Amino acid sequence: MKISYVTAHEILDSNGRPTIEVEVGLDDGTTALGQVPSGASTGSKEAIELRDHDDKRYFGKGVLKAVENVETHISQALEGQDANDQAAIDQILLDLDGTDNKSRLGANAMVGTSMAVCRAAALSTKNPLYQYLGEITGNQTFSMPAPMILLMEGGKHGNWATDIQEFCVFPLTGAFASFRETLRAGAEIFHTLGQILANKNYDVGVGFEGAYAPKQLSSNAEAFDIIMSAVEQSGYTMGRHFVFAIDIAASEFFHDGTYILASEDNKEMTPDAWERQVLDWANQYPIWSIEDPFDEQDWAHWSHFNQTLNNTKQVVGDDLVVTNVALIQQAIEQKAMNATLIKLNQIGTVTETLAAITLSQKAGFNSVISHRSGETNDNFIADLAVGTVANQCKFGGPDRGERLAKYNRLLRIENELR
Ligand code: PGA
Ligand code: ZN
Repeated sequence: MKISYVTAHEILDSNGRPTIEVEVGLDDGTTALGQVPSGASTGSKEAIELRDHDDKRYFGKGVLKAVENVETHISQALEGQDANDQAAIDQILLDLDGTDNKSRLGANAMVGTSMAVCRAAALSTKNPLYQYLGEITGNQTFSMPAPMILLMEGGKHGNWATDIQEFCVFPLTGAFASFRETLRAGAEIFHTLGQILANKNYDVGVGFEGAYAPKQLSSNAEAFDIIMSAVEQSGYTMGRHFVFAIDIAASEFFHDGTYILASEDNKEMTPDAWERQVLDWANQYPIWSIEDPFDEQDWAHWSHFNQTLNNTKQVVGDDLVVTNVALIQQAIEQKAMNATLIKLNQIGTVTETLAAITLSQKAGFNSVISHRSGETNDNFIADLAVGTVANQCKFGGPDRGERLAKYNRLLRIENELR
């Protein structure tokens, strides 16, 4: 089906910052949106998010240039093209941009367009988006991803309540009969945790991704301890039902060769000492998945850490590889990780995102389909997780509408798949 128009708007994301929404119309009357998320703890090699830098609007964060790029260059290039050839559409966008980092059109303009075209094409074939994505990637049988359910957050997302950015629980295989039951348990633990924090007179407001971020925590370890209590009090057992999945986002507190723990009286650690600290936590607590344990430039410690753990745990690259096949290839060669975090807007097109997932799968890596800290109610990534048969997803805490948009879409898909 041919594309009849492409338009765009500046909208707001879940943090009240401008982002772009792209609308695509097809000749058969189908219309679809693609709303673009935005990160806070971004990797330095991510594709460029085009911002206006006009200080008179939104502190320079407006996206009117990206909107204009969609409505001029992109719409001219895509009108009349076949929406059902996603690879060709994305190649047109790449050629039109012509840069290595998508700085001309803006990765935000490109990914919003790419998502909207994909969704419109799926709609016009009357197939669910996950099925359409399955056709593109050659998957015919679908399964539900296991969710990393966020319970506490720190770092840039959570007012530096802890240095570790995300504390999630992840279900053990066979512990729950369905995605629905896993999410129920996660939500129960979330509410129990809120009650425990309230009883201690700790803050119960939530951070960017919908999880508790109490400033009163005295250490990273205290967050593990409190979550362990919440899990047990909810009637579940760590090590039997759940394990920890954490995102350290270590690049955010690595300065001049030193890891500095703001939540622990600015304790300074050399990379070697920091590596021992992370391994100590991993021995002390039932932590199974560890994302971004080191600074994104520190490939040597990544490789040493991953090879020390020797596949006994999951080591996830986010800022290290930014959904970029060249960097994922480097990580494969250097044995720097064994799982890939996948974010559409880090790379900027659906096709390149699918290539990142495929390469990871070929290397035997798990893929974790992820939201960003700045989100919208767009639920594309729920279908992406199912359609690519990525085995894991990371969509935040079980509150805040923009996180629930993804979880609730997964609940609907699970019903369809029964
Ligand atoms: P971001 O964080 O969206 O702020 O980059 C998410 C993550 O680090 O996984
Ligand atoms: Zn991360």
